[in-house]
Amino acid sequence: MEHLTDEAAMDLAVAAALEGVRGANPLVGAVLTAPDGQLLAVGRHRGAGTLHAEADALAAWAALRETDPQAAAVDPAACTLHVTLEPCDHTGRTGPCTGAVRAAGIGRLVYAVADPTGTSGGGAQTLRAAGLDVSGPTGHAGSLALTDRWRRARATGRPFVTAHLAQSLDGCAAAADGTSQWITSPASRAHAHAVRGRVDAIVVGTGTVLADDPRLTARDDDGSLASVQPVPVVMGHRRIPAGAALRGHPALAAGEEPLHLRSHDPAEVLAAIAAHPGPWPHGRGGCEHLLIEGGPTVLAAWIAADLVDELHVYTAPTFLGAGLPAVSGLAVDTLAHAVRWTPDSAEGGPVRPLGPDTWTHLRPATAAGKE
Ligand SMILES: NC(=O)c1ccc[n+]([C@@H]2O[C@H](COP(=O)([O-])OP(=O)(O)OC[C@H]3O[C@@H](n4cnc5c(N)ncnc54)[C@H](OP(=O)(O)O)[C@@H]3O)[C@@H](O)[C@H]2O)c1
Repeated sequence: MEHLTDEAAMDLAVAAALEGVRGANPLVGAVLTAPDGQLLAVGRHRGAGTLHAEADALAAWAALRETDPQAAAVDPAACTLHVTLEPCDHTGRTGPCTGAVRAAGIGRLVYAVADPTGTSGGGAQTLRAAGLDVSGPTGHAGSLALTDRWRRARATGRPFVTAHLAQSLDGCAAAADGTSQWITSPASRAHAHAVRGRVDAIVVGTGTVLADDPRLTARDDDGSLASVQPVPVVMGHRRIPAGAALRGHPALAAGEEPLHLRSHDPAEVLAAIAAHPGPWPHGRGGCEHLLIEGGPTVLAAWIAADLVDELHVYTAPTFLGAGLPAVSGLAVDTLAHAVRWTPDSAEGGPVRPLGPDTWTHLRPATAAGKE
């Protein structure tokens, strides 16, 4: 039987959270332990509209108590709930976690990181006032790293930003003649389409629109349109051709022009997206998750502005020789100025085969140092 210290329980909560995918919602994990540290239940947040991690762990424990008399005999008031992020205190699509914790009669709460959002935070105070023994924020390192970029995005009021890059072994995003469809395999493209399906908007540069004429839709494995479609956004001064495929994007009303921002500045693009009335997918009031699909010039601009929170790299076992660099225009003059990334274990990462390709999942290395 497993007996956990508070630290070990929080490590386990982080591991559970990392089974999820990054995006508009934070990765959160929760672990319930008995007074002697015995593991009772593990929970995690599985995406928008689903149970929060605390409620997920408590539901798992309730289910266990139905069938296991030993679990049913444990006094909840003597149990500790360990959560990587402060429990929420507001009613969104699911009820407040503070309510679920109180209803379960849990006596002690340990949380690692305060919730920075005005609407969701405050749960620790509410639970203290209700008589629970509350410890936190403990600053548990794994929990801080789990949500560092999400919290930064929230704190600055911008969407969480994911970027995508398909490249050859020698780091090319296209062959010398500009052809890039397709460098990577159907398995990689299926993963990339799943990512498209969970974002609110996709940004590409005019260079990609002119070279590839992308549809920028999220499609299922059989090529049919996914039920939720991201809003297409183009940045750059050149015009979008009259017959461009993205003009027929299902997120656009008949005759509606795509969101075209004649700018090279990611901050201006973010401001314009924030001002855009939508409608936004996923039932959101605004754009909370943005995907940068490139190409190489646009990707470099977002990376240089430190605005990429998560990077999916699909590397095909191919050499393209004198092709187009996968990221072009980053001002790195010496190794000391290299833009460094760190492996991201979320979503089954950091490295996984996808058909013949290799998928690498990364997040900025700078984030942890800035905590
Ligand atoms: N492998 C992949 O994952 C992938 C993905 C996408 C594209 N591609 C390939 O990439 C190639 C196109 O490369 P690209 O670099 O031209 O594409 P891009 O990054 O999509 O577009 C670059 C253009 O966008 C405008 N722009 C927007 N922001 C800018 C900024 N901050 N700085 C400078 N210009 C900015 C400029 O055009 P204006 O003059 O109009 O302002 C610039 O020429 C194609 O061969 C395509 O097949 C590959």
